[in-house]
Amino acid sequence: MGDAMERCATGIDGFDKISQGGFIRNSTNVLVGGPGSGKTTFLLQFLWNGVKKFEENGLYCSFEPDILETVNDARSFGWDFGKLGEEGKIKFLKFSPATSIDELKTELTKLIAQGGVKRICFDPISVLALNLNEQGKIRNTIFELASLMKRLNVTTILADESMEAEGMQPQTQGEWTKTDIIRFLSDSVTVLYESGISGVGDRAIRVSKMRRTAHDRKPQGMQITPKGIEILEAPKEPEMTTPTTESSQY
Ligand SMILES: Nc1ncnc2c1ncn2[C@@H]1O[C@H](COP(=O)(O)OP(=O)(O)OP(=O)(O)O)[C@@H](O)[C@H]1O
Ligand SMILES: [Mg+2]
Repeated sequence: MGDAMERCATGIDGFDKISQGGFIRNSTNVLVGGPGSGKTTFLLQFLWNGVKKFEENGLYCSFEPDILETVNDARSFGWDFGKLGEEGKIKFLKFSPATSIDELKTELTKLIAQGGVKRICFDPISVLALNLNEQGKIRNTIFELASLMKRLNVTTILADESMEAEGMQPQTQGEWTKTDIIRFLSDSVTVLYESGISGVGDRAIRVSKMRRTAHDRKPQGMQITPKGIEILEAPKEPEMTTPTTESSQY
């Protein structure tokens, strides 16, 4: 069976290229970045493309108060999730941060089976950790969630908030580092950068870890346009000019 069979393509061309075809199928993946870095946009595009390009149904789980706003904002990219919702291809689900892991697991198991879900996103997973004070509990909760998704044959992306991509040092204690542990549990980590100081050219994306994959490790320039996330072509490396016998003819 070819490698393409084991991948869950995002449909974001440049990303699928640097990651050798997309995420590993049924894996748990972390997408980390600061405010406005493009996390939600990436997740929505992954789900939209899932339905439109790959006929895979999706589930978007939010812990934020206003999920309708997210659905409406997606229209600015031309993604009408309302329609896909009516067709039963995408579900948007709001969880309270106080939801227990057992409630979450029961609800997700039901929805994944009912909706034939293949792709799931949690945005942002850090909210789930707010009520858990110990690293051990956070680790167990995320581990249980990730294991369940694998058993149900779903490819998962967990959006995580971090200030490091803004060039700030993450604090050693406090909210920003509460969910850092998930990076060790996950099969891949992708970082979104946004410096906010040099216009359109200041966004970048980097796959910092992807198990079983010889991925590109360099940051790639990225833009958020009215069509969503676009990864920019890397400028060509200058060619080596070692003289050869052919070139010495000239
Ligand atoms: N239609 C659009 N066209 C171009 N750029 C857009 C459009 N809509 C949003 N953006 C850009 O995308 C950014 C928001 O990205 P997004 O909401 O995905 O980030 P995020 O990482 O989820 O942020 P947060 O941590 O605040 O949730 C906006 O700040 C804006 O720069
Ligand atoms: Mg967001």
